Amino acid sequence: MGECPSIPPTLRFNTTYTDTTSTPSSLRRSRLEKISLEGDDVINVHGFGNGGEDLALLEVRGVTMDFGGLVALREVSFAIEQGEIVGLIGANGAGKSTLFNIITGVQKPTAGMVGLTPHEIVRLGISRTFQLVRPFLNYTVEENVRVGALFGHARHSEVYRRIDHVLKLTELDAKRNLLVRTLPIEQRKMVEVARALASAPRLLLLDEPMAGLNSVEIERFIELIRKVSEEGATVLVVEHVMKAIMSVSRRVIVLHAGLKLAEGTPETIMANKDVVAVYLGEDYAKS
Ligand SMILES: Nc1ncnc2c1ncn2[C@@H]1O[C@H](COP(=O)(O)OP(=O)(O)OP(=O)(O)O)[C@@H](O)[C@H]1O
Ligand SMILES: [Mg+2]
Repeated sequence: MGECPSIPPTLRFNTTYTDTTSTPSSLRRSRLEKISLEGDDVINVHGFGNGGEDLALLEVRGVTMDFGGLVALREVSFAIEQGEIVGLIGANGAGKSTLFNIITGVQKPTAGMVGLTPHEIVRLGISRTFQLVRPFLNYTVEENVRVGALFGHARHSEVYRRIDHVLKLTELDAKRNLLVRTLPIEQRKMVEVARALASAPRLLLLDEPMAGLNSVEIERFIELIRKVSEEGATVLVVEHVMKAIMSVSRRVIVLHAGLKLAEGTPETIMANKDVVAVYLGEDYAKS
């Protein structure tokens, strides 16, 4: 629901880096980048660095999205620390994909201006998958993954090393020369994940990556998220498969009708009466 398939317009932005030695090309190395966007809303992106454990990698403050009367997000705020795996859950229409669109600059929030062009988002190390799968169907698996790798890496040799690594990680290696349109939907989804991973993102946003997978595939996907996290990426994942999200996440954020209803460890969330009432249901709480 609510996907935004069109190529977004270039949004106006101004960017201030608190590390004065930073240039856009050295963002990956800078310890702290602060992106100050027009208006009240601010997304702070802190780079990989030493001694910054208490720094948030991503901070979203007071984000409101009003689609002409339909308020999809209401003053949503949260922070994600580097290295975390965070689950984002909520009923259909809660605002999860809209939040992804805003974080990645695909949509501009009503309150203030939050957004960068997709190009800048990738350069800063944020990559995402879409709920509606849309790999390039008439290209091979490897060609799809190459698109991501080319965005993320400057050097040619690194591009091919990254492609090989990602194809192995996602178990698509044997299918690298097949056209994506010949693959079943689950594998097309994996191609999209591989493409997102290929840019070596610091923050990876996954929108319902496990929908439609069987239990063996879900187990494999959980393992993949863990490996990606061990390699240094921070992961924010939207998912309705509760067993998966509760087992893989260190922290879970719950959206309900555009509001942040709760945030905490999986155990806290499963025990939260409001979350059980509006989303998880009594049966889940008892199981
Ligand atoms: N471009 C848009 N124009 C108007 N309304 C929109 C738009 N995008 C999303 N919405 C509405 O905003 C609300 C939140 O949608 P969103 O897609 O973010 O929900 P979601 O939590 O991702 O749901 P699902 O679990 O079904 O994917 C919904 O009521 C949806 O209809
Ligand atoms: Mg959605």
